[in-house]
Amino acid sequence: MPNILKNISLKPYNTFGLDTSARLFVEVKSLEELQEVVRSSKFKINDVLVLGGGSNILLTQDMDGLVVKNSIQGKEIVSENKEEIVIKVGAGTNWHEFVMYCVEKGYGGVENLSLIPGTVGAAPMQNIGAYGVEIKDVFVQLEALHRFSNKMEIFDNATCEFGYRESIFKHSHKDKYIIVNVTFRLSKRPKLNLDYGAIRDVLAEKEITEPTIKDVSNAVIEIRQSKLPDPKKIGNSGSFFKNPVISKEALLSIRKDYPEIPTYPIDDNSVKVPAGWLIEQAGWKGKTFGSIGVHKKQALVLVNYGAGKGADIKKLSEDIQASIVEKFGVALQAEVNII
Ligand code: EPU
Repeated sequence: MPNILKNISLKPYNTFGLDTSARLFVEVKSLEELQEVVRSSKFKINDVLVLGGGSNILLTQDMDGLVVKNSIQGKEIVSENKEEIVIKVGAGTNWHEFVMYCVEKGYGGVENLSLIPGTVGAAPMQNIGAYGVEIKDVFVQLEALHRFSNKMEIFDNATCEFGYRESIFKHSHKDKYIIVNVTFRLSKRPKLNLDYGAIRDVLAEKEITEPTIKDVSNAVIEIRQSKLPDPKKIGNSGSFFKNPVISKEALLSIRKDYPEIPTYPIDDNSVKVPAGWLIEQAGWKGKTFGSIGVHKKQALVLVNYGAGKGADIKKLSEDIQASIVEKFGVALQAEVNII
């Protein structure tokens, strides 16, 4: 049984760098260790928070219960032929390290998802996505431990119910499973996904006409580094809000005053609009309030410059939501899990 520690600061375990504490804390490095913890009375009688890379949570209070840090590693080739490779990866593996492994080996499919903070096990929870690719595009299945029965169950692409930053693990299966490993199908003859404008621009700047997956990965890393704060330097959780989907009618009304509003097509009746754009137009971009604020280069990202408190970031997010409703009549939904 791994050691259950007492009164541990969670600062190193969340990318917002918030200094809240856990009354009980345990790190698990294998399925066996995880199952021992799940069997223990401390797990059964306490509120439990499972952490991956802590890159999509806002901790607004001390945790009176048990925090389980999932550090299950491992990489196993399930099958392989000339065209593709199927790999099973431990949930606690750092996501970007896994992407770098694929890029170095020439396995295509996740290069557009370079430099996303967090772990492999957390990635399917919210179907991580960037630059025209989502994890569901390369996902085969995952194995998760049921928190109450302590048994492993398999979820495939359909049963995960993936959507835009969504899966069943954020809804009906919330807090019921702990993801143990994820299996991906990657291509040895990858079709590159360059449609997201900025990628082509970066490649053109470098005069790369026949890009490899490494070139695409490097371009994505460059774009992310130019816009998004490095959580090791400035605490943040990436996009704080989801990009909202609004009706065409609502769009027409916003367009009267803001003809330049960017949109992404959804269907005949609705469009997705960038929350970052709305927040910038409402005047929040780069605003600082004590130790917290709205990132200077991407208004969708809330930041902790050091001594910030989760509750203050939550309050700031609510003030932003209220101002976007007032100005545009649009409701922004948090993408980050507020605990
Ligand atoms: N924009 C502004 N002002 C801003 C930010 C954005 O006007 O402060 C405009 C941009 O000019 C552009 C549009 O909004 O026209 C979209 O901006 P961007 O390309 O930066 O992407 P995003 O929609 O803000 C989404 C994801 C990011 C992902 C990028 C690239 C969500 C919630 N966010 O952001 O994901 O990296 O696209 O694919 O869907 C994350 O989830 O943590 C994340 C960083």
